[in-house]
Amino acid sequence: MKKVSTILIGAGARGIIYSSYAIKHPDELQVVAVAEPDDFRRNYIKDKHGIPDDMCFSAWKEVLSLPKFADSVMICTQDKMHYEPAMAAIEKGYHILLEKPISPSPRECIEIAEAANAKGVNVVVCHVLRYTSFFSKIKEIIDSGAIGDVVSIMHSENVGFYHQAHSFVRGNWRNSRESSPMILAKSCHDTDIIQWLIGKECLKISSFGSLKHFRRENAPENTPDRCIEGCREASRCPYDAVKFYLREEKNNPWFSQAVTGVVGPSEEQIEEALKNGPYGRCVYKCDNDVVDHQVVNMQFEDDITVSFTMSAFTPQIDRTIKIMGTKGELGGKMGKEMSIVLHDFLTKTEKKIECELPASGGHGGGDVGIMKAFCRLLNGNYSSNALSDISISATNHMLSFAAEESRISGRVIDIKEFSKFVMS
Ligand SMILES: NC(=O)c1ccc[n+]([C@@H]2O[C@H](COP(=O)([O-])OP(=O)(O)OC[C@H]3O[C@@H](n4cnc5c(N)ncnc54)[C@H](O)[C@@H]3O)[C@@H](O)[C@H]2O)c1
Repeated sequence: MKKVSTILIGAGARGIIYSSYAIKHPDELQVVAVAEPDDFRRNYIKDKHGIPDDMCFSAWKEVLSLPKFADSVMICTQDKMHYEPAMAAIEKGYHILLEKPISPSPRECIEIAEAANAKGVNVVVCHVLRYTSFFSKIKEIIDSGAIGDVVSIMHSENVGFYHQAHSFVRGNWRNSRESSPMILAKSCHDTDIIQWLIGKECLKISSFGSLKHFRRENAPENTPDRCIEGCREASRCPYDAVKFYLREEKNNPWFSQAVTGVVGPSEEQIEEALKNGPYGRCVYKCDNDVVDHQVVNMQFEDDITVSFTMSAFTPQIDRTIKIMGTKGELGGKMGKEMSIVLHDFLTKTEKKIECELPASGGHGGGDVGIMKAFCRLLNGNYSSNALSDISISATNHMLSFAAEESRISGRVIDIKEFSKFVMS
């Protein structure tokens, strides 16, 4: 099997996760260069992968101005920084692993898809749910006909109160003008997975939702701007940053790395970040504007209907799904534990379906799964059905853009008209 060479662009949280695949599977992937402005992160990747000095760059423009020297690039920069490096990499003929969202601009999503198709390169969008054993199993059961024709789906993305506070109130995806609206940043995975499971086109969308709770007017009286400044409400507040980052999740690499910007920070570094950085702020006093709850209704071809709910106010991070077919119902939960149950209307039986719980790897095994699929695609050994063409990823992003348009305008959105409108 040919080893795939790749250039990492953006050595933040996601870049570190994807590139770690090369350490565990050196026969499949090699990180041959890195572009990252932050010295600590760039050096971290350089040391982990033994990258020579002249293959370490401080910005994507430097590495993509050179003649092509690897099979692929992994673009793991922030949401608004995907378009330019993606277009430059396509121009050079690189295959791309591209973090979601493709872009916060619907037009740019379509432009990337068109450019990739014209050049004949693969752009694999990190819709990691497709590569989990949970959703693969559900797809397999639907395609087997075990529940007959799919008629309705109820799907929930349970964000988790602490995850909302971390990423969407204090963190990188708190403000839609700086990153993306919630339905794109968080839930483009869900619109994509729903379309993949159904395998048909979405025709219409409507949506409601708002930022109800994490607002200045909900701050208790006389509380400081930062939790670490002796907030008298701390013991009554589920969102207290001191309790969370310095005690409960002190050793959680996801949170500690985001808060401090370094891998494996000391307690002093976390304390310093809570005094001065964005993650120490009171959740009621941030510059956030993304919604904390949203519902989306979708009508697909063949009269299939879907309701999707995203909410911050759940105890854990997980997803629940119920798929109702003409011959049976399929229910599942994907989180720390996974379960799938199939009800057969004819035999009136209930069957628990085995679903492999990954020993390691985030997103229910999807982070490792996508890397395996990406390497196999590039070395010609891919044989599954999870990977999607960039055109499908871009089309499925339109569902998120259309839902946001509906939420803001109060209108039902016709997807075909909406897609035409964004390109006009
Ligand atoms: N697929 C998923 O499930 C999933 C989960 C979380 C985040 N994401 C997405 O992944 C992307 C990255 O998120 P993250 O949490 O890793 O962010 P991050 O901020 O930790 O990492 C981004 C990195 O890009 C670097 N960077 C900035 N300018 C650069 C330049 N000119 N050249 C090269 N690198 C540059 C930054 O210094 C930073 O290290 C985002 O778009 C996010 O929405 C996807």
